[in-house]
Amino acid sequence: MAGPKPFQWEFKPEPVAREVFRIEGGRRLDGSVRISGAKNAALKLMAAAVLTGERCRFTNVPEIEDVHVMTAVLEDIGVTVEHPEPNVYEVAGGDTEWLFVPLEAAAKMRASFILLGPLLGRFGRVIISNPGGDRIGRRPVNLHVDAMRALGAEIEYRNGYYFAKAPGRLRGGNVTFPQITVMGTENALLAATLAAGHTVIEPAAQEPEIDDLIEFLQKMGARAERTAPNRIEVEGQRRLRGASHAVIADRIEAGTFAVAAAVTRGKVRITNAHAGHIEALLAILDRVGVAVAREGDALVVDATASEPGRLRCCDIETAPYPGLATDLQPPTCVLLTQTEGTSHVTETIFEDRLEWLSELRRMGADVEVVDQRHATIRGPSRLHGADVEIGDLRAGASLILAALAAEGATSIRGAHHVHRGYEKIDSKFTELGARIERLAEGT
Ligand code: EPU
Repeated sequence: MAGPKPFQWEFKPEPVAREVFRIEGGRRLDGSVRISGAKNAALKLMAAAVLTGERCRFTNVPEIEDVHVMTAVLEDIGVTVEHPEPNVYEVAGGDTEWLFVPLEAAAKMRASFILLGPLLGRFGRVIISNPGGDRIGRRPVNLHVDAMRALGAEIEYRNGYYFAKAPGRLRGGNVTFPQITVMGTENALLAATLAAGHTVIEPAAQEPEIDDLIEFLQKMGARAERTAPNRIEVEGQRRLRGASHAVIADRIEAGTFAVAAAVTRGKVRITNAHAGHIEALLAILDRVGVAVAREGDALVVDATASEPGRLRCCDIETAPYPGLATDLQPPTCVLLTQTEGTSHVTETIFEDRLEWLSELRRMGADVEVVDQRHATIRGPSRLHGADVEIGDLRAGASLILAALAAEGATSIRGAHHVHRGYEKIDSKFTELGARIERLAEGT
């Protein structure tokens, strides 16, 4: 009989090679692009799979760095992850024995904290690193921890780690958040599926990725349901089973391509896009004067008739879903550089998410960052090529959009950040007629 697996801590992904995008701007995008599966759904679905020892199969998983990091984190705690073909992942939780999510995992990817709920729910204990802040803000996890405590967990914080245990089993309870939190809602939901009794999560975040997670949990045998727009109720089960699921389309990627078509004055058909998930952005495109047609699960953005002076400025404010996603604030700011007049931008979710605008300014945008939450953008500006640097993936994708709209060549350092969350972004743009090259930094 095989003895217990010896401890071998090894963090698998190699350090990411630094890359640069070189973009020759000023070309209208033209053609069709298919949207990939959503990063922020796929990561949570993979974490949900550890709620059972049985195999779970996911299709339409985006081939992005964050999914590869999640794979490595799961493998390191003894979960088997198979990757039989591109975009398909099979996760088999088995008898996970090393309930430790280290600092290296948290440092690489904040979303590894989503393992707190499922590991605690299934095994009754976990030691997990505090993911800390990142380039877009402080990003505390107090609400996740409070939610676990509301479900009966005992949690201590020592030396950068949360030591969490649920003597016996988690208990259903009322999880009441003082503010909307996406991953906090998801952690509470995942933990509650195996808790004893009934849980009510309120106010629950309303992002479509959470409903995708609920759908998958139901296939696993969980009794979880959104019983009101901002309320999720769960009746805990003793065990869950393996299930298969196709990841929903990435609404942030869809929105990014919609803006790309608009700022290059191109015409792009965006397929596998749920218009209903980006209504707030579509309303902005409508207000500024970009034509968008809905054709089944496709969106056709046609900006061939919109010359810069003919687009109208517009004030924007990010908000939890169904409001304008904070992840779509950076691309929307690029759009506003091409509109006539002064637009006011209010970022309500993360405190450092306007910092990237200083890079956009280097490309000729007339932007003023008033404070951590407010900026003004005057347009239309003639963007020009420049050497700029990416700090986080959403800002990075948006600098690509600015470079595509700009005259001349742009070098974007830190391009590897974009691969954390966008599948084949360079080849998707190339197929639409963009000139974009990906090079190792220093070449
Ligand atoms: N917050 C707390 N305490 C907590 C949790 C959150 O104070 O314990 C605060 C945050 O600092 C923030 C606000 O609550 O000010 C909302 O944060 P939320 O918890 O909703 O964000 P998240 O779950 O950590 C997810 C996405 C983000 C996306 C936000 C908002 C994932 C893996 N991440 O983060 O996506 O911006 O929701 O929609 O789902 C990205 O994909 O680039 C990204 C940053």
